[in-house]
Amino acid sequence: MSSAPRTSPASPDRDSRGTKAGGRVTLSVLAEKKALGEPIAMITAYDYPSAQVAETAGVDVVLVGDSAAMTVLGYPSTVPVSLEEMLMLAAAVRRGLSTPLLVGDLPFGSYEASDERAVATAQRFVKEAGCDAVKLERGGTSADRARAIVAAGIPVMGHVGLTPQTATALGGYRSQGRTAERALEVAQDALALQDAGCFSIVFEAIPSALTDAIMPHLDVPVIGIGAGPATDGQVLVFHDLLGIYDGHAARFVKRYGDVRAAMVDGVAAFAEDVRERRYPEPNHGYTMAPDETARLKELLTAAWSRRSDLA
Ligand code: KIV
Repeated sequence: MSSAPRTSPASPDRDSRGTKAGGRVTLSVLAEKKALGEPIAMITAYDYPSAQVAETAGVDVVLVGDSAAMTVLGYPSTVPVSLEEMLMLAAAVRRGLSTPLLVGDLPFGSYEASDERAVATAQRFVKEAGCDAVKLERGGTSADRARAIVAAGIPVMGHVGLTPQTATALGGYRSQGRTAERALEVAQDALALQDAGCFSIVFEAIPSALTDAIMPHLDVPVIGIGAGPATDGQVLVFHDLLGIYDGHAARFVKRYGDVRAAMVDGVAAFAEDVRERRYPEPNHGYTMAPDETARLKELLTAAWSRRSDLA
């Protein structure tokens, strides 16, 4: 990578995450950031190059989100993505990442049925993909699964509000907790996940007023996505923030780039160069010493004459 890791202006021996050179973001670093009121930056990544981008850009937490189902695998929702697919993506991210905390998203159907199933799935994320922690969605029985995974020694991040794995039951991909009763349910889910031992919780697509009301009751870092400014950090999907994904973007998405347009322009320019015979140019080829070229011609002539003898 050509660009150097960003350093914090306040402290030249630390990078923008506040970690010392060569240090890793741990659960204690995140807890300390919350205590100090330092915002936590989290993004998703799904492969080796996006992990390298996250590493170099200096984010604190990288989530191999099951949003991969839609952004990189082309499924219509997060529901169909399999455990094997998620593990392959998470392992690729691990190979491109050393400093941020790496969280793997447990896909739909891989943890809900029992504590044993949840622990076994979480262990695969740690053992096979090298994740530092896992994330699961919803309160209720998911809080029980979170407790079991934490008891097995694996840190868990919770996720409340809009939980895309169960969006159908929530009435679709829409903001949650907009009535006092539903807001109370979201708050109860968050508290249940904290009580279960989650080290952090994602709030997705809930009113800012609901976030404001819950925050004083939570000791663990809360990462928001469409949950207003009061959370301890913010997360966005890599493809949304860079403008790589062509689909519909939620209202909370802010685009920081138009990478898809740059990619289409580059590929279109290549195709045009090929068709116009402008590519490759002489400097894109390999050379051969003139005496080797002359010798090759002799060898080919001899080979061809042997073939015509046989015909
Ligand atoms: O899958 C995902 O990308 C997520 C984030 C939106 C938090 O769960």
